[in-house]
Amino acid sequence: MTTAERLNTIPLGEAMFTQRAIRRFKPDPIPDDVLDDIMQATIRAPNGGNNQQWHFILVKDAGMRGKLAELYHEAWWAKRADAGIMGPEDIPPGKSSMRSAMRLANEIGVAPVMVLVCATAKGAQAMGSVIPSAQNMLLAARAFGVGGTIATLHPVVEERVHQLFGIPEEAQVVYCMPLGYPRGEFGPVQRLPLAEVCGVDGWGGGYPG
Ligand SMILES: Cc1cc2nc3c(=O)[nH]c(=O)nc-3n(C[C@H](O)[C@H](O)[C@H](O)COP(=O)(O)O)c2cc1C
Repeated sequence: MTTAERLNTIPLGEAMFTQRAIRRFKPDPIPDDVLDDIMQATIRAPNGGNNQQWHFILVKDAGMRGKLAELYHEAWWAKRADAGIMGPEDIPPGKSSMRSAMRLANEIGVAPVMVLVCATAKGAQAMGSVIPSAQNMLLAARAFGVGGTIATLHPVVEERVHQLFGIPEEAQVVYCMPLGYPRGEFGPVQRLPLAEVCGVDGWGGGYPG
């Protein structure tokens, strides 16, 4: 069987409609062959000029994950501090996704794999070119019952992350993505109605035309 065939565990539509952010993980390892299939799908993503200016670091070693988890925690709170949120008590009551993101910041080290999705150059163009690979990764993971989420670091930890993983100076870490078997369920994502975010022949309103 090919990777493409092994990915056909569930219909594409089901994968797309139930691939919500998974932030709580069982510590169970992801078998290497499953991880390989996920990464084979990841590098099939569209990218600028097919220059494939990306590099992926699979952080599997428990000690390395622990170090990255600490840096992720620091980065998460640095992002919140930038927005004036200095502690859990400052998180507005309605912000449930921020609360679960906060929990991820505490628990990310439980995930058996953390993937550093990198661009081989700095700047927005290089960054934009690796972004589709993250969605391929999550959809492929979903097919195997593996969950995860896109997550970002913060400049405050950049130098230490580069040093820890030998990332060249000219490269950048775009995402830090935990992957693992979910504690909890995949499920439908909640989005605004399409008519609120889609126009026909111009910005706003009018959908479906
Ligand atoms: C660019 C980007 C950055 C994100 N950063 C984080 C993050 O740092 N931590 C986190 O827990 N989730 C992060 N997410 C996941 C979003 O919070 C999540 O996709 C959104 O809340 C919708 O949730 P759902 O996909 O489960 O419906 C990020 C998503 C994107 C696209």
